[in-house]
Amino acid sequence: MTVLCPISDIPEQGAKGFEVEGRGIFAVRHRGRIFVYENRCPHRGVPLEWLPDQFLDYERNFIQCATHGALFKIDDGECIAGPCNGQKLWPVAFNLIDGNIVLT
Ligand code: FES
Repeated sequence: MTVLCPISDIPEQGAKGFEVEGRGIFAVRHRGRIFVYENRCPHRGVPLEWLPDQFLDYERNFIQCATHGALFKIDDGECIAGPCNGQKLWPVAFNLIDGNIVLT
């Protein structure tokens, strides 16, 4: 069990990146819910962000890959625009325990 961070560390409509045992992952807080994915674009397998914690598009409605601009739905990680259209981000299993995001 690994505590990622308190939920309150992630701003509403915001995201935060982490490295856990050499694996890049990120968490998004969206409309009161938390989503956690591997930080890896299905197009080229590269990290999604160029700047720390910048995983969302300008309007904060989608996860966006900084390399070629693919857009992913926040709630299920499906790519809805870009070169990996129809592919998905890899979800990371977690629980919310005492206000913390805890990887399972
Ligand atoms: S590497 Fe992400 S869209 Fe190409």
